[in-house]
Amino acid sequence: MKKQIHLNGFTQNSVAPHSPGLWRHPADQGYRHGDLSYWIEMAHLLERGKFDAIFLADVSGVYDVYQNSYKPAIRNAVQVPLHNTLLQISAMAANTQYLGFAATYSATYTQPYKLAREFSTLDHLTKGRVAWNIVTSYLESEAVNQGLKTRIEHDKRYERAEEYMDVVYKLWEYSWEEDAVMADEEIGVYADPEKVHPIQHKGEYFSVPGIHLVEPSPQRTPVLFQAGSSSRGRDFAAKHAEAVFTTTQNTIAELKAFSTDIRSRAKKFGRRPEDILIFPGVVPIVGATEAEAKAKYEELKQYVSYEGTLALLSGHTGVDFSHYNPDEYVENLETNASRGFLHQYTTVNPEKKWTVREAVTHHGLGIGAWKVVGTPEQIADQFESMAVEGDVDGFNIIQAISPGTFRDFVDYVVPELQSRGIHRTEYEATTLRENMFGKGRVRLPSNHPAKRLGSHLSREAAKSVR
Ligand SMILES: Cc1cc2nc3c(=O)[nH]c(=O)nc-3n(C[C@H](O)[C@H](O)[C@H](O)COP(=O)(O)O)c2cc1C
Repeated sequence: MKKQIHLNGFTQNSVAPHSPGLWRHPADQGYRHGDLSYWIEMAHLLERGKFDAIFLADVSGVYDVYQNSYKPAIRNAVQVPLHNTLLQISAMAANTQYLGFAATYSATYTQPYKLAREFSTLDHLTKGRVAWNIVTSYLESEAVNQGLKTRIEHDKRYERAEEYMDVVYKLWEYSWEEDAVMADEEIGVYADPEKVHPIQHKGEYFSVPGIHLVEPSPQRTPVLFQAGSSSRGRDFAAKHAEAVFTTTQNTIAELKAFSTDIRSRAKKFGRRPEDILIFPGVVPIVGATEAEAKAKYEELKQYVSYEGTLALLSGHTGVDFSHYNPDEYVENLETNASRGFLHQYTTVNPEKKWTVREAVTHHGLGIGAWKVVGTPEQIADQFESMAVEGDVDGFNIIQAISPGTFRDFVDYVVPELQSRGIHRTEYEATTLRENMFGKGRVRLPSNHPAKRLGSHLSREAAKSVR
């Protein structure tokens, strides 16, 4: 069987989240993001294309690094206005049967006890179709508006997130035994309290003594996505993630180096290389002919807002690019924001130096992801080479215009991938983890680190009984 390609549709609950300025394109409908019909139509479209999931990015602050001001972000709708990322999922789930929902939530700014409850609830409501994109967050504005004096230091955010994962694993995997819910009307017991365990977590950052509030959901732990690209972020991904999202590679050699690195780090944590699916982001631009696709690409670029992209890029990297002239090189920089985004323009390819203008032009259409421009056949060829030679498992499709990029892809490229036998024509199952890893794998596999907390928990429980 040929290598199968998985697909996610990448978006966010805002106007033109990943391509600043494209809201001005006559075909763009991002302005409808506050309208449930927009999300339901999008979910139908992606399910028609047999996508694994809709992937919802999120931040919880404004992009105010550029010019030390929130005004450029407001003017250009750079991820603001920005609505909640979970609330539209129930409506999409009610209107689909198979599509998964990968939602971004910050491990730095949500308490694990609360996050565990929200995702368990959604896993019930969607019948096992939820994923969590674990982020540690990069904006200072997220920290100061949520009660912190300043952003926690980069590696410390990951260290804290390690303990965070222990807490949510304990809640999801161990608090409720599988048969705790009895609903026995005769004896009048709904759930057996002996089978619902306080997790007794007391660590450096979190204290959660009690039980999880939600009974086991179909997947228990949602499918775990992660997108950190720094060395610390990659270790975190290699330990916890079942799928890694990346946009920072733009050649097959760079992709191959990334996937080799993630897969070899996975071994350090007792996992197999194939336990992690790798999804590079791509912006597909489809035409009936190559010339038409190229013309479309040129047309889309005209709508990219230079100022809006500077606001986005400055927020991603933590570098205020208003202090640079457009032809200056982006180099010799370090950051406490997202190292992955900054390194894309400084170190990923030592042969290539980026000027600010080049970085902005590239980042402005799909947050610096690879642009795959051509006929459906050419795009399918490119996907096959990236998947096979770059050793990746699928693609996060990033929009230039919404939902036009998804629609063109589903109408023209998906049939080509299907006719080559490299993308499903029917879903394999109804839970997200099974659609990603194969029928029968509803829950985390036994070699996942979450599964190693079990013996520790029984020791804690024994201690608390004594
Ligand atoms: C492709 C991609 C998408 C990301 N999406 C989000 C997002 O929606 N919200 C967020 O807070 N961080 C997002 N991030 C940031 C990371 O997940 C991570 O928390 C941050 O980059 C810091 O880690 P790093 O320095 O290891 O890259 C994204 C990163 C990448 C590369």
